[in-house]
Amino acid sequence: MAYATILTESRGPVGLITLNRPQALNALNAELLGELCTALEAYDADEAIGCIVVTGSAKAFAAGADIKEMAPQSYMDMFKADFFAQPHDRIVAIKKPIIAAVAGYALGGGCEIAMLCDFILAADTAKFGQPEINLGVIPGIGGSQRLTRFVGKSKAMEMCLTGRMMDAAEAERAGLVSRIVPAADLVDEAIKVATAIAEKSQPIVAMAKQAVNRAYEGTLAEGVLFERRLFHSTFATEDQKEGMAAFVEKRKPVFKQK
Ligand code: CAA
Repeated sequence: MAYATILTESRGPVGLITLNRPQALNALNAELLGELCTALEAYDADEAIGCIVVTGSAKAFAAGADIKEMAPQSYMDMFKADFFAQPHDRIVAIKKPIIAAVAGYALGGGCEIAMLCDFILAADTAKFGQPEINLGVIPGIGGSQRLTRFVGKSKAMEMCLTGRMMDAAEAERAGLVSRIVPAADLVDEAIKVATAIAEKSQPIVAMAKQAVNRAYEGTLAEGVLFERRLFHSTFATEDQKEGMAAFVEKRKPVFKQK
């Protein structure tokens, strides 16, 4: 399928999505958000794909929601369209792992899209922020909630109240990103990690993603029970038999389940 604002490409078992509105630093207009969700859903449904990488350009992962598109909207426009509910809910519903490979600016909605991915690999050039306060608005794709869970109340509050940016080193120290890689290696490294994930048992990968995500959504006791039930159900899969047999037989497992 041809898209106007993103590029898509399969690299072996990895679906690579590149945000591509360079003239606007990948600002997230309705068309881009719609295309991003459609591409994610297509890879989610594709049996040949085991993991998805979302990236931007060297200068910007995405510099936020499209301010020029939002500027004239009224309260009733935003409320009636339930603005940003769609992309948020469609990305949350993706079952396969999504890695955000972030170089340059990830601001406002850009930071929020990165946080909606399952983890963030950051280039040493990455800059994260929620600068909505400078526009007279607040984050609208979950940023105030997710940033707080990632980095804690104090830092999230400071970022949302001042709009200041965090560089990659601070983002790694704060736990927003899993690790930092040199900018020139970012996409290759993300593809390498995604390929390693795609080579594992796909039903078990989906369960692991669900289990970690559950930590955000309920109490600890409920999350631990949810994890334990999923853990039990891994024993209903052929890949559990293969994975454990391979360990005992001192060989590499060959996972087959899609
Ligand atoms: N929306 C629309 N256009 C944007 C944009 C955005 N979020 N960010 C950048 N652009 C456009 C600029 O208007 C400019 O276009 P023109 O050449 O046509 O004027 C082009 O991209 C290049 O940007 P700059 O000239 O500003 O580039 P710079 O290198 O000088 O600055 C920047 C880079 C610091 C990221 C600056 O562009 C900036 O501050 N952008 C806005 C960041 C922001 O406020 N993001 C939050 C948006 S609100 C939001 O996201 C709400 C939400 O929670 C969902």
